[in-house]
Amino acid sequence: MSDQMQNAVRVHRYGGPEVLRLERVPVPKPGEGEVLVRVQAAAVLPTDWRMRQGIFQHIRPHVLPYIPGSAFAGIVESAGKCAVEFKPGDAVFGRSWNGVYAEYTTVPADRLAQKPAGLSFAAAAAIPGGAAAAWTALPAFGGVEAGMKVLVHGAAGGVGMFAVQLARRMGAKVVGTCSASNVDFVRSLGAEQVIDYMSAAFEQELSGVDLVLDTVGGRVQERSLTVLKPGGALVSLVGLPFAELAEEMGVRTRFNSQLADPDIMQDIAELLADGSLQACTSRSFPLAEARQAHELGESGHGRGRIILYPAEGQDRENFVPNRQNMVQ
Ligand SMILES: NC(=O)c1ccc[n+]([C@@H]2O[C@H](COP(=O)([O-])OP(=O)(O)OC[C@H]3O[C@@H](n4cnc5c(N)ncnc54)[C@H](OP(=O)(O)O)[C@@H]3O)[C@@H](O)[C@H]2O)c1
Repeated sequence: MSDQMQNAVRVHRYGGPEVLRLERVPVPKPGEGEVLVRVQAAAVLPTDWRMRQGIFQHIRPHVLPYIPGSAFAGIVESAGKCAVEFKPGDAVFGRSWNGVYAEYTTVPADRLAQKPAGLSFAAAAAIPGGAAAAWTALPAFGGVEAGMKVLVHGAAGGVGMFAVQLARRMGAKVVGTCSASNVDFVRSLGAEQVIDYMSAAFEQELSGVDLVLDTVGGRVQERSLTVLKPGGALVSLVGLPFAELAEEMGVRTRFNSQLADPDIMQDIAELLADGSLQACTSRSFPLAEARQAHELGESGHGRGRIILYPAEGQDRENFVPNRQNMVQ
């Protein structure tokens, strides 16, 4: 019997956004402990375009050609015989290292979470690598306590938009940095103070910060050390080139790359479903425009999470922007 075919984006060689090609490839078959998922929404993460550039090929090498993407939400099509907790028709989300810029992906059952009914597929796809990263990074130094001053860099981004809301929920006074067009958006997420990093130097406006969440790195990280109070802490999602300097200055630093377990992602999904958290996923592209989605992501500026949806004419009803993905 011939293989069932699907549309998928593939990378045949590392390079610029032009190497993303929409092709017809076989639908993958789930292993015994895996689930086959019909993808409804795939998140475009910064790590996707860095992998496409070949930056991570020594850490996470791909067999070329490969299908990019890892964060997704979709509907279970079939389950391997050991993946008994999922059945066809279940709405799920999670992270698959088998590539999700496709109509179908396979994923180990223990990496999947159930999508609550009140949550759009797009908002669910924004959890892995977005809300989940903020959730694991903020408590890296023992938790955020009421009254703490927390600085979130990149506060309008796919991680930052959740970090602002989560720190606020924990009772922190949140300061966010973003560009001018995102100031109102970041304020709407609960930031008490928002600094447009293009028109003001944040270190001249701030001091006595308890915790910095660094999603930008480089000089922004170095400058952030100066706004921390003695004993304050910086958690970076991008690297720690200034760890020695931080030690000399008497502040703590940590790199966080912890992946969230499905039960944590499930908790986050419930908060999104009941409106306690908001997700902005208003920039979406069909699979055929993965190149444009990557170009937008690589610009380094934007709001919320970029989403790819698998095919025109697919069940778009579940994707239509709703309260969760239309925060402006
Ligand atoms: N270690 C981990 O486990 C982990 C997990 C998730 C993400 N990350 C990394 O964390 C970084 C952020 O991820 P993301 O998904 O949030 O990216 P994103 O969605 O692309 O957002 C990036 C944001 O950074 C803002 N920005 C750019 N330059 C800035 C500056 N100088 N100061 C303040 N904000 C600035 C942009 O805001 P404007 O449009 O307002 O300029 C944009 O909203 C990426 O490098 C990603 O790879 C790491």
